[in-house]
Amino acid sequence: TRKITKICCIGAGYVGGPTMSVIAKKCPEITVTVVDINQERIDQWNDSDLSKLPIYEPGLREIVQETRGKNLFFSTDVDKGIEEAEMIFISVNTPTKTYGKGKGQAADLKYVELCARNIAKIAKTDKIVVEKSTLPVRTAAAIKSILDNSGNGVNFEILSNPEFLAEGTAINDLFHADRVLIGGDDTPSGQEAKDSLSSIYEHWLPKERILQTNVWSSELSKLVANAFLAQRVSSINSISALCEKTDANIEEVSKAIGYDSRIGPKFLNASVGFGGSCFQKDILNLVYIARSFGLQEVADYWEQVIILNDYQKSRFVDHMITTLYNTVAGKKIVIYGWAFKKDTNDTRESAAIYVVDALLEENAEITVYDPQVSENKIYADLDYLDTRSPEENRKLLTVTDEPVKAAMEAHAIAILTEWDEFKNLDWQDIYKSMLKPAFVFDGRRLLNKETMDGIGFKYYKIGQK
Ligand code: NAI
Repeated sequence: TRKITKICCIGAGYVGGPTMSVIAKKCPEITVTVVDINQERIDQWNDSDLSKLPIYEPGLREIVQETRGKNLFFSTDVDKGIEEAEMIFISVNTPTKTYGKGKGQAADLKYVELCARNIAKIAKTDKIVVEKSTLPVRTAAAIKSILDNSGNGVNFEILSNPEFLAEGTAINDLFHADRVLIGGDDTPSGQEAKDSLSSIYEHWLPKERILQTNVWSSELSKLVANAFLAQRVSSINSISALCEKTDANIEEVSKAIGYDSRIGPKFLNASVGFGGSCFQKDILNLVYIARSFGLQEVADYWEQVIILNDYQKSRFVDHMITTLYNTVAGKKIVIYGWAFKKDTNDTRESAAIYVVDALLEENAEITVYDPQVSENKIYADLDYLDTRSPEENRKLLTVTDEPVKAAMEAHAIAILTEWDEFKNLDWQDIYKSMLKPAFVFDGRRLLNKETMDGIGFKYYKIGQK
């Protein structure tokens, strides 16, 4: 097995940053350089003030503090990073295409291809190239074709090593990964490359948890894992709608089915819907692939997971509006939480964006509080939708860092992210300063219904009549 001493990771995002930090910490003999074309991001990674890191993840700051400048480096010099490394991780974004063929479904691979072309141009020594980004099946073949035609006479081994971390628990997930998946060729050099990558993870994970497969299985497994996870959320959310019409309680149903060891208790919390950069994009990808092979039924089956998720969000807004006497125009509504889930500052595909946009369409006056998401980001997310002008967004929506004060004279509060701190707010005080009846719409099932009813709120918890 080739012993790796220098790694380069292209893409200093939510995946590249935490994974490389953990590799640097666990493998002190390896020099890890994370490169990105985004100067601002790299500056933030290098900021001596660790609260300025571009990503908020519990436990990340400590690791960066310990390893940065020793064997972990962040740089915009992509070419130098590529040239020096024996192993290169591609961890750039692979968003849904917004143009051309496959628009709205297929993965946009232009960033990955740019990386491959850059590697082909720069590399003068043999490299192991690792796909860390989530990619549609058969991307490795495309990368290989680009690399093999570079004309430098350099040998490239392409591996697929999808990342299974979840934002908000990334560091813990990396330390205690359920499994690591390494896909590669069965040729002797392919096997050697797989073993080299495996030896990195073996620094902290038992060998049995490192699975080796062929490239296609590895690529497809990542899409399927996300599809299954999202499917569980949509399944329980579909039942939450039924619970609201009957006397069944979603919490009791979740518990009752989760006790079945074949089903298991995790990922059964009803909510206003899943978000995040991955679930929707990866399922759309799966749908696109299935359809492109003529598998209409397979595509329709998985597409329904997304349709249900959209339904859950619009159902939540519709319920808010109906409850607020069919109009929210000019009414002050406070939003608790903008991130797509707790313990992250990532807002991609967050349910809050959709819910607030729909409320703004009804001319509601919105105030948003989130403990980790900046004002700029909130406006940028809304502006990106292009539903109305940036000026209008700023006129109708304000951002606050004082959640309790914000509730003054509000008609309603909507909880859209399950931040722990929302449980400990002084709800008594909040109630006093709100207009009556004081409505709380809990899209995350965070609070206790008896307590909230007891204070006097008109409290709605998703999945409960
Ligand atoms: P991100 O958007 O946070 O980071 C990607 C970074 O790549 C950006 O900083 C961008 O500037 C940089 N970049 C783009 N093109 C570049 C180029 N040619 N050269 C150098 N840098 C370049 O994306 P994130 O969330 O880290 O995701 C990366 C991949 O990992 C995606 O394929 C995603 O599906 C996958 N993934 C994401 C997970 C998550 O929780 N965010 C979990 C598992 C997989």
